[in-house]
Amino acid sequence: MLAAMNAYRAAILRFDPAREPGRSAIYDEDGLLVVGPDANGMQVVQAVGSYQELRERFLGVPIEHFPGRIIAPGFVDMHIHFPQTNVIASPADGLLPWLENHTYPEEGRFSDPSHCAESAAFFIAELLRNGVTTALAFASSHPASVTALFARAQQQRLRLITGLCLMDRHAPAGVLNGASMDGRFDATEQSLIDSEALIGQWHGRGRLGYAITPRFAPSCSEAQLRGAGELAARYGDVWIQSHVAENRDEIEWARALFPASCSYLATYGDFGLLRERAIYAHCLHFDEQDRALMHASGAAAAVCPSSNLFLGSGFFDYTAADRAGFHYGLASDVGGGTSFSPFHTMLAAFYVGREGRSKQALSLAPQHLWWQHTTGAAQALGLAGTVGNLLPGCEADFIVLNPQATPLLARRTACADSLDELLFALIVLGDDRLVQRTVVSQALLTIPAN
Ligand code: GUN
Ligand code: ZN
Repeated sequence: MLAAMNAYRAAILRFDPAREPGRSAIYDEDGLLVVGPDANGMQVVQAVGSYQELRERFLGVPIEHFPGRIIAPGFVDMHIHFPQTNVIASPADGLLPWLENHTYPEEGRFSDPSHCAESAAFFIAELLRNGVTTALAFASSHPASVTALFARAQQQRLRLITGLCLMDRHAPAGVLNGASMDGRFDATEQSLIDSEALIGQWHGRGRLGYAITPRFAPSCSEAQLRGAGELAARYGDVWIQSHVAENRDEIEWARALFPASCSYLATYGDFGLLRERAIYAHCLHFDEQDRALMHASGAAAAVCPSSNLFLGSGFFDYTAADRAGFHYGLASDVGGGTSFSPFHTMLAAFYVGREGRSKQALSLAPQHLWWQHTTGAAQALGLAGTVGNLLPGCEADFIVLNPQATPLLARRTACADSLDELLFALIVLGDDRLVQRTVVSQALLTIPAN
């Protein structure tokens, strides 16, 4: 057993899930992370703690030493759009013109499988380069985009959840779900058949998971939402992802299209799309009833602060979310979001978290920001204890951070005199340069001798 293990020595950051997020960090200045295979051959954390306390127990296990570096859990991005990599930095006067003028034209290009494959390779590499080891991603409305993304993630061992974007109305033909080639089915029926086939092909295969993906209520017919809800009932451990309450014009549109529902969010509930493992991006313009519905249903919010600031959508209300008690975590929302870097997203969350607060509570604590992009996000996805942390049993997804990556980072972190000060300096000054290495858990495969 010891022979199959590896250990890493550095400062180590992880989180105590039982503690309040703002004070949940556990930090060993000189730590040891021991990883090795579990019963299924998956590389998981076997032990973590101070180097002095652990080294005797693991004599003989090879140790890689990273002096002056910090090992932290791989980041979890709860909401990102694979076909929007080229859309980053496309300014618009709000969500709906942004979709029409920038996003839909680019997503239309994913009808071409070679564009899907080339983009998938870039997208997965960019996530890993930025320290993201788990992502819940939208694909486009073309099945080839889902296949290309799953295939590449599997190759690179990223933990990835994605699904076919369901949209059968109110968008240009190039991005609406297409009818079957032989014309036997209509586009709505075909999109549901394709979704179910993709669940069968990919869900639960290694580290991959499927998400039923209605884009948002305004782009889906009643029949499509009903079909999506039926799939969600039939496949209880499959995820659901969509958007809700991001922008005032969007909300007005959704209310006009589904007037029988109590609210925009309630529309999803009316079609069976609110449950655990249902992840809704944004959740900005909620009332108390909406928040209670999130909590009661077990749905979670993907908070997208850089996107919300960039598109002028609004501010996620952390205080009200905590009062209602529903789960949430951070997300880049590329290409509405402005960066793949979790450091940029955490900094944007700091700005957003300041909104509407009293002077006594400046904004969110650094540990809370970091927790939202790791342990908190994993919990919101229903993956607590699997990813987003470095406690024993967690998959061995981690990053090695170099606080000396730039002259300014080196200078500022050298004079940080508390853990919060150090984490905050990394959040404010950090980007992909901080991430020296990203390690993803791998199954130890026995290669047959020939
Ligand atoms: N609402 C519907 N589609 C989208 C999208 O692609 N991005 C964002 N931010 N909101 C949406
Ligand atoms: Zn989005």
